[in-house]
Formats: sequence, structure tokens, C-alpha cells
Amino acid sequence: MRTVRTIAELDLPRHGVVGLVPTMGALHAGHTALLRAARPDCDVLVASIFVNPAQFSQNGDLAAYPRDPQGDLALAEAEGVDVLFVPGVTEMYPPGFATWVDPAGAAEGLESAHRPQHFRGVATVCLKLLNIVRPQIAWFGRKDAQQVAVVKQLVRDLNLGVEIRVVETVRDDDGLALSSRNSLLSPAEREQALSIHRALATRD
Ligand code: PAF
Repeated sequence: MRTVRTIAELDLPRHGVVGLVPTMGALHAGHTALLRAARPDCDVLVASIFVNPAQFSQNGDLAAYPRDPQGDLALAEAEGVDVLFVPGVTEMYPPGFATWVDPAGAAEGLESAHRPQHFRGVATVCLKLLNIVRPQIAWFGRKDAQQVAVVKQLVRDLNLGVEIRVVETVRDDDGLALSSRNSLLSPAEREQALSIHRALATRD
């Protein structure tokens, strides 16, 4: 596995299938599922790890986001990633950066009601990662269902010509979706979060 920190160093082959699994690191079994879905269908599997400041709100969320660089390297290597792209913030947003993707449609409501700039950050970084890596296929988790809808809309509306594949949610033993962010929940918050899954599982 090659770990690459700059866009100039990426130098990916333009033959065969290049696949991308974009992540924000702190990799867990949900990411393993994405990488395992992707690996057999790619000649070159690229995973990106970039904690994207643009998709966080201003309340310390970014500082609190879990990070595990050593664990990430080990998991990516074990899952057969060919290239791990780990850019720094100034590589992705150099001084003078001033162009944003501002999605409407699928980005409206739900998550945006609580984090108004979130999908602007997600859409912008996804467009950048797709342009930098230029994969034929990219994999996203169904856990972030609204994100999947926003990314599909981005690809359709901006004619990106990449296939988006969606991988089912991986859940903990208690039923809560595996998520870097969910690992920060207190036992009481976890119990509250679980009520959503329980309600969905028992509907009808
Ligand atoms: O789902 C995530 O981890 C992030 O939102 C993504 C797609 C990598 C963009 O930063």
C-alpha cells in the first residue's frame, strides 16, 4: 500500500478500474464493509482519509472528531487498499480557495436543519476527491442516507460520470449503526439513539 499526502504524488494509472472509498478516518467495521465491497471490483483501490473541516459546524465538533492514524493504516493495509490518500487541509483548501458546491434538493431538511453548511462541505469535498482521483466507481455507506442522495444528485447534476455504489449499514450488537461519531455517545445518548433504530425495526 502506498500512502500519499499530496495530489501531485497520486499519479494513478489511467487503465483498468480505479475505485474510491472516501472516508474521514477512525476506520471501523462499517469502512471494512465498504472496502470489502470495493476490492474485488477494482484494479486500483484508493481510500481517502480527510477530516473535512468544511462539513463541521463551529461548535468544537471538528476538534472532538475521533482520529486513529495508526489504526487506519493497519486496517487499510489489511483490506488490500492500494493507495491511501491522506491530504492535509491546505492540500485540499489552499490559500485563496473560494469555490463551493451548494446543493439544494436532496440536501434540504433533515441533517441540514441542524447543520446548515454540512452538505455544502460534503458536496464540495466529494467533488474535489472525485476530480482528484477520477475513479470509475465510488462507494458510500447507506448509514448516511441523505449524504448518499446528495452525492448521487451531485454526480447527476454536474455530469461527473462516476458510478456511485451503496453498501448496507453495519450495526453494533445492540443495533446502533457503527459510526465514528456514535463512538462519542454517552451511555444515555446511546440509549436515545437506539430508540430510532428500534422504532424503525418494529414499525408495521
Ligand atoms: O461519510 C464521510 O465519511 C464523509 O462525509 C465523506 C463522504 C468522506 C466526505 O468528507
